[in-house]
Amino acid sequence: MNVYDSDRMADVLRPLGYALAATPEQADLVVLNTCHIREHASEKVYSELGRMRDLKVERRAEGGDLTIAVAGCVAQAEGKEISRRQPAVDIVVGPQAYHRLPQLLAEAERKAAILKAGKRLPGAGVLDTEFPVESKFDHLPAPLGVRAGSAFLSIQEGCDKFCTFCVVPYTRGAEYSRPAARVLAEARQLVDAGAIEITLLGQNVNAYHGEAEDGSTWSLARLIRALAEIEGVARIRYTTSHPRDMDDDLIAVHGEVRQLMPYLHLPVQSGSDRILAAMNRQHGRDLFLGLVDRLRTARPDLALSSDFIVGFPGESDADFDDTMRLVEQVGFASAFSFKYSRRPGTPGAAMGEQVPEAVKSARLSALQALLGRQARAFNESKAGLIVPVLFAEPGRKPGQLIGKTPWLQSVFAEGDARLIGRIAETRLVEGHANSLAGEIVTGTYEAAA
Ligand code: 5AD
Ligand code: SF4
Repeated sequence: MNVYDSDRMADVLRPLGYALAATPEQADLVVLNTCHIREHASEKVYSELGRMRDLKVERRAEGGDLTIAVAGCVAQAEGKEISRRQPAVDIVVGPQAYHRLPQLLAEAERKAAILKAGKRLPGAGVLDTEFPVESKFDHLPAPLGVRAGSAFLSIQEGCDKFCTFCVVPYTRGAEYSRPAARVLAEARQLVDAGAIEITLLGQNVNAYHGEAEDGSTWSLARLIRALAEIEGVARIRYTTSHPRDMDDDLIAVHGEVRQLMPYLHLPVQSGSDRILAAMNRQHGRDLFLGLVDRLRTARPDLALSSDFIVGFPGESDADFDDTMRLVEQVGFASAFSFKYSRRPGTPGAAMGEQVPEAVKSARLSALQALLGRQARAFNESKAGLIVPVLFAEPGRKPGQLIGKTPWLQSVFAEGDARLIGRIAETRLVEGHANSLAGEIVTGTYEAAA
């Protein structure tokens, strides 16, 4: 989502004459797009801001200037506190207000000119962390951010679930679905700009319920079916889903829509019913396991991925065992796992029985070891197959390309750089912990064209 938002901020600023700079040293404006999901993610913002301040001081000594903006969920959550902790910041803009960046910049420029006359260092301190009534999507220009054939498309934002560990409902606001026609129009623009893979985005993407032109409401399943009709869309993915919103139709789509890739990221967080209830997840262990069965019936080769939190307040050894057993039972192709991080303002932060750091660390290591073994086994199980790989970027070695299998595994293969942004049949030779080695079968640029 932040990659998408960053691209859109670049789109908003382009008409003002801005273009992407390779490094902050070359930039007139630096936008830090921030994440507030866990503590260490937001801490990084302040250390990075310290560096930007030094750059600003240098720039001013040379008679120039640097405008510093903080965007994203840290901006939303901390607001004015950011300019107080780092006075060199000019603009603080939340994730629902960044379409107003041009106005904010103009305001910051005015203020900076006044401050500069007084030769003071502080930034202009312009703040916009509103959740405007008008959707930012109605004010953003056509997207230009297609990278190597792959594009993100934000269809839903915000969340009404209020899991007790999570800041998203506070920083991204209430759940909102973009109208279906807008989504399809943006998808067509992305295809025209070179996209062959579209990843639909939302904090709670399968809760999508977009208004259609005939006044009806479209589900995610319906939207995916319509997207698959667009000529040129070879691959469709969506992320991130909630188990509670995984309905029958969406499960069926996994078996029916050829372009929908056989990969699903479905966060479960814990395998213990007691902890799931304390997390206010609105689903238990059995609901999740039942979904896994039904999904695999619809699409037998579906690769499953998930998120896990260890050390949520009150998590006992037995609760953690339940998580380990769930992982063993399901068998994940990949996963993200985290130590519980206390987020101010969330119910979890105020709960008693916070789990000691050492216990969290031990549990995380055990869980990651198991998930790591499963990921390797999954990669190894694909060795020998010939599959379509979408090549995305050059590898580190000369002549090497990196691409993605339908199951979202990384593949390294020798190939012509002109294959970047294209799909080529590739023999998977060997599976490793985090990737596969492959050999391109439709080896020439012409064959793939
Ligand atoms: N502590 C640790 N992990 C968290 N996540 C969200 N909030 C927290 C938190 N307070 C994790 C969840 C979520 C993923 C995006 O980040 O696993 O699915
Ligand atoms: Fe956060 Fe996801 Fe729970 Fe919403 S459903 S509160 S985004 S973890």
